[in-house]
Amino acid sequence: MNHPNRRRFLKQSGLAAGSLALSGIHFACAALGAPLKQVELSGSLIRFETAIPELEKAGDAVALDSVLLEYPILLIKRVGGTFTALSSGCTHLGCTVRKEPMLLRCPCHDSAYDFTGAVLNGPAEQPLREYRIRMTGSVAEIEVTW
Ligand code: FES
Repeated sequence: MNHPNRRRFLKQSGLAAGSLALSGIHFACAALGAPLKQVELSGSLIRFETAIPELEKAGDAVALDSVLLEYPILLIKRVGGTFTALSSGCTHLGCTVRKEPMLLRCPCHDSAYDFTGAVLNGPAEQPLREYRIRMTGSVAEIEVTW
């Protein structure tokens, strides 16, 4: 089965590395519905400063991306100032979900998830993958496990 996997798509596109990276960034940003932030992993951790304008209010989100991630991670601010970190990979067939004002929606077959990653509408049956977060002040430490 040929899943619409972002990395596979990029590998198969055959574009030069430079233009590949740029087009990937624009593709991911538009597709995700959230500002894209390139991050580096320190071991299995992503450290990200959350005191930024893009994460001002509940429902705001950024998409954290790294060449080591299969899918960008959506870091979503919740009511009360907590955060949720969810894989943007749809659990149905692997398309990249898009953040909308009140939910996350997959453009491929219209599955929808809430901001905890729970399925609101199929065909997806499994929740989005959630990553553990530890806050140190305003810095989120996201534990990436494979
Ligand atoms: S791949 Fe997301 S609903 Fe099918």
